[in-house]
Amino acid sequence: MASFQWHPDEQPPQIESHSKAKLEVLRAYLRRYFERLTMDPRREELKLDLVDGFAGGGTFQDHHKVLSGSPLLMLEEARAAEDRINRGRRKPLKMNCKFYFIDKEKSHTDHLRKVLTERDYEIDDKIISVQTGLFKDKVKNVIQSIRRRQPRAGRAIFLLDQTGFSQVELELVHYIFNELATAEVMLTFAADALINHLAETPKMIKMVKPIDLSESDIHEIIRNRNSHGGRALIQRTLCDHILNVTQASYYTPFFLRPRQSRRALWFIHLSKHPTARDVMIQQHWDIQNRFEHYGTGGFDMLGWDALKESETLPLFHFGKLDEEEMQRQLLDSLPEKLFRLAEEEPVNVDAIHHHFANQTAARFADLDKTILQLVQEGEFDILGPDGKARSKSVRILRSKDRVRLPSNPLLPGLPRRW
Ligand SMILES: C[S@@+](CC[C@H](N)C(=O)[O-])C[C@H]1O[C@@H](n2cnc3c(N)ncnc32)[C@H](O)[C@@H]1O
Repeated sequence: MASFQWHPDEQPPQIESHSKAKLEVLRAYLRRYFERLTMDPRREELKLDLVDGFAGGGTFQDHHKVLSGSPLLMLEEARAAEDRINRGRRKPLKMNCKFYFIDKEKSHTDHLRKVLTERDYEIDDKIISVQTGLFKDKVKNVIQSIRRRQPRAGRAIFLLDQTGFSQVELELVHYIFNELATAEVMLTFAADALINHLAETPKMIKMVKPIDLSESDIHEIIRNRNSHGGRALIQRTLCDHILNVTQASYYTPFFLRPRQSRRALWFIHLSKHPTARDVMIQQHWDIQNRFEHYGTGGFDMLGWDALKESETLPLFHFGKLDEEEMQRQLLDSLPEKLFRLAEEEPVNVDAIHHHFANQTAARFADLDKTILQLVQEGEFDILGPDGKARSKSVRILRSKDRVRLPSNPLLPGLPRRW
């Protein structure tokens, strides 16, 4: 995989289409993140730390135009959010962000310093810190600094935009979540490059050490990669592996397919809290069509639960028709899954969201809509937090509501939908 090069005396590198798509997701995500966190009009300050651990040189060329790279994009979005939010406010909200930009190459950080200075940003370590070195050597101090600034919330976004698949030790992501429970991590991972190049050689075994693949994992991947449907199986195994090692609770994968190589790259959002996951999945619906997914949006999406052979699955584009198909799929498959979940005792809405989040392209609102329809049709009941049954025509689910099997099935004796 080609890597970008920056030098302060030279033009920035030409951007490729998949990197552009990635930056588009990042921008859209940050925009929504800021919106979500500043909805409360009484809030006076938003503290957030943004860490770009593989920052690059700050700009790209997009044919004849200059395009902002991830560090500039973070700064621009924070500033734009402050302007946008304060337009309609009586009490102004202060965006108190700190930015850490790290890259191992001095010529890259030199270029970055140059473009920041040209745009009048001050690199004073108070708001913007540019550091040359390996991310793994810098992360501890960065986390300490975040904790000093935000002893309680520790709210932070980490962008780990590596080239390839082995520059980010997955254990480090685990470490970040351990230290900062509300952190979110966006990680690029060249999944197809890994799958294609994997070999049982000592060199390769050493190379995949940062991602904690054991020799038997490697053997399994090699065995499956040429088999019928094997690639989808491997993708799923890898996703599960990343979740396991990082100990993230939620992940949302974006699949970016570089035109030149046709090899899929993943841009994975990892977090420990459900709201972050829902904000991320919304991006798929907002951006539409830029990413390739297979499946019907229900519980069988590639990257969510891809046990089927990808060639036979339809492409999913997060468009209107996909949404209708997904709702149909959810209505078909959710009853049985929900039945199993609520079989022993009523299960609350938060737990349902948590349980299904990594398996589907549905937003929580889509899941709620399906559950409400099932309630109306008498397949489940809803209990309020006080334990009393809510009306069947209820239109909004609250997070502490609980779903239980119906006390009076509407048509006794008839088989359920499942
Ligand atoms: C894909 S580029 C980053 C592009 C940037 N995120 C953007 O979109 O504008 C990856 C960068 O990571 C840097 N890098 C590679 N390994 C690193 C490591 N272990 N620690 C820190 N930086 C690293 C490379 O020098 C390169 O500049």
